[in-house]
Amino acid sequence: MMIYKTNEQVELMRQSALLVSKTLAEIAKLLKPGITTLSIDKIIGEYIKDHKAIPSFLNYRGYPFNSCISVNDVVVHGFPSVNELIEGDIISVDIGVILNGWHGDHAYTFAIGDPGDEVMKLINVTKESLYLGINKAVVGNRVGDIAFAIQEHTEKKNGYGVVRELVGHGLGKSLHEDPQVPNYGKKGNGPKLKDGLVLAIEPMINLGKKEVYTEDDGWTVRTADGKPSVHFEHDVCVRKGKADILSDYSSIEAAEEKNPNLFTQQIVQPFN
Ligand code: MF3
Ligand code: CO
Repeated sequence: MMIYKTNEQVELMRQSALLVSKTLAEIAKLLKPGITTLSIDKIIGEYIKDHKAIPSFLNYRGYPFNSCISVNDVVVHGFPSVNELIEGDIISVDIGVILNGWHGDHAYTFAIGDPGDEVMKLINVTKESLYLGINKAVVGNRVGDIAFAIQEHTEKKNGYGVVRELVGHGLGKSLHEDPQVPNYGKKGNGPKLKDGLVLAIEPMINLGKKEVYTEDDGWTVRTADGKPSVHFEHDVCVRKGKADILSDYSSIEAAEEKNPNLFTQQIVQPFN
């Protein structure tokens, strides 16, 4: 069942999404080699609670941390750990909050120092693919139009592996609502997009092959070939003509640019 949000509800969801953006921007300020992902997770939990919200991932189906922090070949759902980040690592930081009863859920991949041209390109292309997908999140289109746009840019044009096992989703009073939003598919297929549908669109793109496996911890998803994977996620509301992006990368990108420990990535202008 798809749940369409009223304008008032969308504004509340924007506050939830923007709290995640603000949290990611805070993290962007302090990322550097030597820091542990567990210390980042603690700061995330405190920041969310200081802003009158709940870290929604914690205890979700037994998930044991505030955030998912996925390093290098970890695709998503990485456990924060006492391992220190090193120069050349890439990390996806995925954060969820509940604010005033509404979920925000989005993610950004950072490069700690220079991961090399090949991986930097994977980061930039994955971010572009997210916006190409968002461009299709308009009234009258179908979920498959979003999926096709992402797959076309990443797999067909650049030869990357598009993860099949994990998908984007509807978002609202629950973290996962209908519809599922795959990052692969056919134009004109799938559920029709109507005004007020809020989606978390989240390409998970592998430098190498598309195959992944889940570790014995039941959560950590890794690439089968051990090559790096990139994950970006935005919360968007379907509208007529142009999607409304509820989350915002601009403060994250500004913090990234100021932090000398982070390799600056391309800033993609939505809707170009
Ligand atoms: N962004 C992910 C998702 O949409 C994170 C949720 S996994 C959790 O599914 F268990 F940590 F909550
Ligand atoms: Co999500």
